[in-house]
Amino acid sequence: MLKLDITSARKFLPENWLTSRLDALGTAHTMLKEGNGPGGEFTGWVHLPRDFEQEELRRIREAAGRIRANSQVLVVIGIGGSYLGARAVIELLDSADHKLASTGGPEIFFAGNGLSSDALAALLDYVADRDFSVNVISKSGTTTEPAVAFRIFRALLEKKYGKEGARTRIYATTDACRGALKGLAETKGYEAFVVPDAVGGRYSVLTAVGLLPIAVAGVDMEALLAGAAEARTALLVPGSENPAWQYAAARNALYESGKRVELLVGYEPAFRFFGEWWKQLYGESEGKQGRGLFPASVEFTADLHSMGQYIQQGERMLMETVVSFQRTHREILIPNDPDNVDGLNFLTGKSIQFVAEQAMRGTLLAHADGGVPNMVLKAQGRDPRTVGQLIYFFEYACGLSGYLLGVNPFDQPGVEAYKKNMFALLGKPGYEERREELLQRL
Ligand code: PA5
Repeated sequence: MLKLDITSARKFLPENWLTSRLDALGTAHTMLKEGNGPGGEFTGWVHLPRDFEQEELRRIREAAGRIRANSQVLVVIGIGGSYLGARAVIELLDSADHKLASTGGPEIFFAGNGLSSDALAALLDYVADRDFSVNVISKSGTTTEPAVAFRIFRALLEKKYGKEGARTRIYATTDACRGALKGLAETKGYEAFVVPDAVGGRYSVLTAVGLLPIAVAGVDMEALLAGAAEARTALLVPGSENPAWQYAAARNALYESGKRVELLVGYEPAFRFFGEWWKQLYGESEGKQGRGLFPASVEFTADLHSMGQYIQQGERMLMETVVSFQRTHREILIPNDPDNVDGLNFLTGKSIQFVAEQAMRGTLLAHADGGVPNMVLKAQGRDPRTVGQLIYFFEYACGLSGYLLGVNPFDQPGVEAYKKNMFALLGKPGYEERREELLQRL
């Protein structure tokens, strides 16, 4: 299982950082487990890895098999919690040697997660003369960005394969009974998967939302779920030894001591989108009522040469959480050079991983010396089981952390503000009054 090392944060924490929070953590833990705290109706993810319906898994596996057999490309349309988890897992489990790509599955592209005309046009060009399928994902079924992208890809599919051919290439993941996408899926006869009512977007990666694209990519989703189930069993044991309790307590104590930004640090380029997923999870769960650590992410060692200066000596509001994988897929040894012109022979025979480990240890010490507390979450390797553990760890710790902060970690009222203005400016019926008001201000 995962281990949390807080050695390099300890000197920044008061002696009672954990003991003084144990009661509150116990209460938060019970609220998550029983689903009876603020937003409790959205805590279905807590027990999901244990209770996942086998029939739903079978349907996901079959649909993934069909897509793998008839498509060179899968276009995954969704935004926020409806795409970040899938992309995080797929990229993290792929690697420089593109192991997933070499399993013969389709290429996977993500669309409908913004409003870039150029990005959309480039993807439309790319799929035009390739066989492709679409997985459109929206819990509400009404989000503008994916809805617009879906209308465009649906038109292309219908033009290319006819209405019936398109029908068999569209997979809709949405609410069981509400929303425009649900209606469309029913009317058109698309195969549909359900986003459970009790699971909000950012906690939905281990539902069909994430699992269908993940299975299409060739990831062993049973192992992913098994890892999450293992983490669930381990982390639902209350107490001061629980690493999720420690993480939630430490970040809460550091926030109270004046830290304002948490950097999630990865040493693998493949980790980048896991950072994006984590940012949404923590940002949307905690950033409300004028409170919350701002979640950001960096990729070391690359960003040590860009952000490193600020981290070491800029405003002292930062804390870091490093996710460190203990195993690499492949080892590369540094060769000897008899001339030693570059002066690197002191590294002869050492592995790149060894060099990376020393870089990490040196950075932890340097940043702690510079006033940046850091914690290290040690994970085994980049394999589905471990990634399932990581997902569950961060979700559960996020629920605890939100409750410690005194917010509802399962709503996102702030996301509506821009949508209302956009609808008004676009002339959506029902927003006339706001439109008048905004036009006067612009
Ligand atoms: O976490 C969330 O609830 C949001 O990020 C949503 O996932 C995002 O806004 C997309 O919503 P929907 O799936 O309803 O299209």
